[in-house]
Amino acid sequence: MTIIQIHLITTSDRYTKLMMLSRKPIKKLQTFRQKPKFLLALVFLTLLSGIILFNWVAISQQPVTLNLLMPAPDVRPFREGMVKDFEAQNPGIRINLLEGPNAANLVEDLYTSAFLLGDSPYDLINMDVIWTPKFAAAGWLLPLDDRISQEELAAFLPKDVEAGYYQGKLYRMPIRSDVGMLYYRKDLLKQAGFEPPETFADLMRISQILQKTDQVNWGYLWQGRQYEGLVAMFVEVLEGFGGFWVNPDTLAVGLDRPESLQAVEFLRSTIQQGVSPPGVTTYQEEDTRRLFQSGQAVFLRSWPYVWPLANQENSPVAGKIGIKSMVHAPEQTGGACLGGWGLGIAKSSKHPEAAWKAIQYFTSEEAQQRFILQSGFVPSRRSLFTNPDIVAKYPHYPQLLKVVEKSVLRPPVAQYAQVSDILQRYLSAALSGRISPKRAMQAAAGETRRLLEVGTKK
Ligand code: GLC
Repeated sequence: MTIIQIHLITTSDRYTKLMMLSRKPIKKLQTFRQKPKFLLALVFLTLLSGIILFNWVAISQQPVTLNLLMPAPDVRPFREGMVKDFEAQNPGIRINLLEGPNAANLVEDLYTSAFLLGDSPYDLINMDVIWTPKFAAAGWLLPLDDRISQEELAAFLPKDVEAGYYQGKLYRMPIRSDVGMLYYRKDLLKQAGFEPPETFADLMRISQILQKTDQVNWGYLWQGRQYEGLVAMFVEVLEGFGGFWVNPDTLAVGLDRPESLQAVEFLRSTIQQGVSPPGVTTYQEEDTRRLFQSGQAVFLRSWPYVWPLANQENSPVAGKIGIKSMVHAPEQTGGACLGGWGLGIAKSSKHPEAAWKAIQYFTSEEAQQRFILQSGFVPSRRSLFTNPDIVAKYPHYPQLLKVVEKSVLRPPVAQYAQVSDILQRYLSAALSGRISPKRAMQAAAGETRRLLEVGTKK
């Protein structure tokens, strides 16, 4: 500012002198008279461009932040096992991990309301294995086909990849698989001379015998609360009786068939016969894990995340548990519910390239190996089930692959959230004795049919 003033004084001095000493053309004098304004503008423009340049450099050096919401129990393993390393290798990208509720369906509700309210604040969308059709049909996701080849996809578990497709386009890359299975107390079975159960009847019989010896309070724990975990568990019992929920090709509904009724009656009988605690109809995964881990039950139906927790040093059942796929009726082979999580990119994200970079890293063999070693989750890449480092820490992984290979997908339909909600409501009513299993399943089948009919008529 000072410099400008001096300059102005000098200029006006010179102008006065010129006026006195010469009679030059007026035009020339006018240029001089305009010079102060011109110089002022020049200085102003220089300052302005300086400020713009400074801001641009500051902004371009600021890291891109990718928002990512996940169920609460996943946040820590994900941060420790993946995000820290990714950020260290990519200083220009930050992952803002947001902790959602425990239950998967409540996380889905948060994503849905965010999208319905306008542009989602989330860049990376962490999707349960059953959400792709709905999210893709609603147009919330970017297709990923151009970013990855079929050869690269072939390294992942086929069903996990399949769950990422909707109408022939890929929207989700699997970051961890999941599969429902049966945990059993190896030590107790061995002491009593039992082999791990194969059938529903074996499970009931072994439970009741071991309960009588007072070594355990309960035989069998499962998730009976009205939420997504209930139908995931039910899919396995249903498969064990040879039944089905919704056929994704024909959209036929199997909920009022005799096998479905048998499945509900079996679960109800576990409570009625005291094999499962009456409170089981209010339990989610964590309630059942705590009870099993404290040594109070012989069997638990849950996901693989339980293994590292139940085997940690201070766990009363550490080293005493085995896994196998869910039991079934004698003439059936049974099945396991496929769970799992994957990442998509929100169509509204301002940083799709950074988001893809993160997905590529999280699904890479190297990052997956570290993540799985730390978390004990199920890998989405096939080769990791037999990876020597992983098997050294988790000797049950090759066995886990066998369970995964038996996995059954929940119906991959765009109306899945409503289809699941119907089953959750009626199952919960039947299991807690508010309505007979027969009436419940007939009503659930009817409502599901009406819903799917409306969906196909659109
Ligand atoms: C696990 C599974 C998921 C399932 C949920 C139900 O998180 O990975 O697929 O929907 O449990 O509680």
